[in-house]
Amino acid sequence: MQSAPSSLIDLNIGPSGRAVAQPMDLDLLEALYQHTSLERVSSAQYLAMSLWFLERELRGFSSFFKNESLSEQEHGFNFAKYLIARGQTVELEEVTKPIQEWKTVQELLTLSFQMEADVTSSVQQIYSLAERSNDTRTTVFLDPVIDEQIKSEDEMAYLLGKVKFADNDPSALLIIDNELNNK
Ligand SMILES: [Fe+2]
Repeated sequence: MQSAPSSLIDLNIGPSGRAVAQPMDLDLLEALYQHTSLERVSSAQYLAMSLWFLERELRGFSSFFKNESLSEQEHGFNFAKYLIARGQTVELEEVTKPIQEWKTVQELLTLSFQMEADVTSSVQQIYSLAERSNDTRTTVFLDPVIDEQIKSEDEMAYLLGKVKFADNDPSALLIIDNELNNK
């Protein structure tokens, strides 16, 4: 006798009620939630940096960090969207208060470079969790994210290098600010 048609197939249903093609490993899921938060925390931190520059008449730096803030927000959204595509629900965490005080531009840039490196480490951790649980969908999702992180680290290192070279000299900082304004 032929088996019954597809209406009797048992589907995996996620917490949002969506059909799930491949259930997710719990550690991987937790890491993806944490990363979504990290992107949102980074977005708030970059916004604080943008305002710090705006208060100091450095509009080029300010707009650079405003764009960084917006792109981190977009990244956070993309991670949440990916979780939803995988049948999960997304509960948003509280965003921690950003640091708003720096003594020098170099100190600020050092933090922003470190933030990018931390985001990349977090993505790498998710990547290995995904590989361990044979979750190819997640590694494919992460590939362009890693590519973009390498570019962000490069850009931040370049800017930090220039600021270091300027050695807190206002006229040199104004030249960099001007370059960022014309981007
Ligand atoms: Fe990001």
